[in-house]
Amino acid sequence: MSLHQTLTILTTLLAAGSAVPTPSPTTETSSTFPHLNALAQAKGKLWFGSSIDTTSSSVQDPTYMSIFNTASIFGQTTPGNTMKWDYTEPENGVFDFALGEETITLAKQSDKKVRCHNLVWTSQLPTWVSEASWTKESLLEVMKAHITKEITHYGSDCYSWDVVNEAINYDGSYTDNVFLNVIGEDYVTYAFQYAREAIATLGASADIKLFYNDYTISRPGSKVTAVLDLISKIQAAGDYIDGIGLESHHTDTYYPSVSDLSTVMNQYAAKGLEIHITELDVACKSTPCSWSGQLGQAQAFYNVIHACMENDSCRGMAFWDFNDKYNWIQPSTNDGEGDATVLWGNYASKPALTAVVEALKGESCSVC
Ligand code: G3I
Repeated sequence: MSLHQTLTILTTLLAAGSAVPTPSPTTETSSTFPHLNALAQAKGKLWFGSSIDTTSSSVQDPTYMSIFNTASIFGQTTPGNTMKWDYTEPENGVFDFALGEETITLAKQSDKKVRCHNLVWTSQLPTWVSEASWTKESLLEVMKAHITKEITHYGSDCYSWDVVNEAINYDGSYTDNVFLNVIGEDYVTYAFQYAREAIATLGASADIKLFYNDYTISRPGSKVTAVLDLISKIQAAGDYIDGIGLESHHTDTYYPSVSDLSTVMNQYAAKGLEIHITELDVACKSTPCSWSGQLGQAQAFYNVIHACMENDSCRGMAFWDFNDKYNWIQPSTNDGEGDATVLWGNYASKPALTAVVEALKGESCSVC
């Protein structure tokens, strides 16, 4: 029986009486926060990172920024919003890269690689794209212009681009969007082709990797089968895709096992893809997250990091924020779910942070 299961039973038994004692958390600062990036790199990985949203008040929080800016803590970042279509091309042919540049500047100041995110996605797509009447040719032209402008603007400041995001539903069908409806399923391949062509215009020194990024692809099932088919289709069309991002939005009660993760990672690796753990956060189904919930959360974080550390094709991992105050899953807007990161809003650490460190070090989980 795991510590998590034991404590779940104890918590239930003692619910009416005194609470199960919980260890005192550390209140983290940049001096105490574990050096996750250094730990990952010591074991041969490219990085451990975290997203940043420069439109959020997090960037005005000195404690937050001093942790974020410490290169040994985070060696990679991803803009949480500011390179998406609604920010970068709010009107047809009118481009604005200023907010995205803020992330590039921050990354350069603390020696971070940037996973640029994203080029073609159903969400955060301006209505001039999603609600206009297009022919296949006119929408392909608009999609190509968008991809080309973003890639050539940011150039080698991007380690990689998430070219297409979340194209497949849980049941394996294609996600409904304007690109699918007007262009057909091939819009995905076209997007990768245009991205590769844009990189070629930057010259031989531009080595920017092209990724497909999606959620619920961490355990075998219909969606993973469909995503593998999609990758085969892109690869049959040309040398267009380099990697896959496993968005890791899990919960304290539903998360992949190490065995599930290693099965699917081996399938992606067999396609020759570089694997990244992206967007890692683990929401508690009810908040404030109970002690038992925190241990389930720790197990979820541990499984994901451990599986990546064990797989040579899995090259890097990143949180989708590292403080509950700023994570996108807030109880007020997500039916009470939240507390999804390794730190409480007041910077007190959770068992999940211990679990992440132990997974990076190759140790067993003491808090799972
Ligand atoms: O910018 C406006 C601001 O002007 C306005 O005052 C405010 C009022 O609510 O909204 C602001 O926009 C919000 C934006 O984040 C920036 O904070 C949107 O409402 C909000 O919907 C948007 O949420 C983002 C979400 O993608 C949208 O789908 C999250 O921050 C972002 O973390 C999340 O990230 C996605 C990944 O890109 C892809 N995978 C899933 C992941 C989680 O949904």
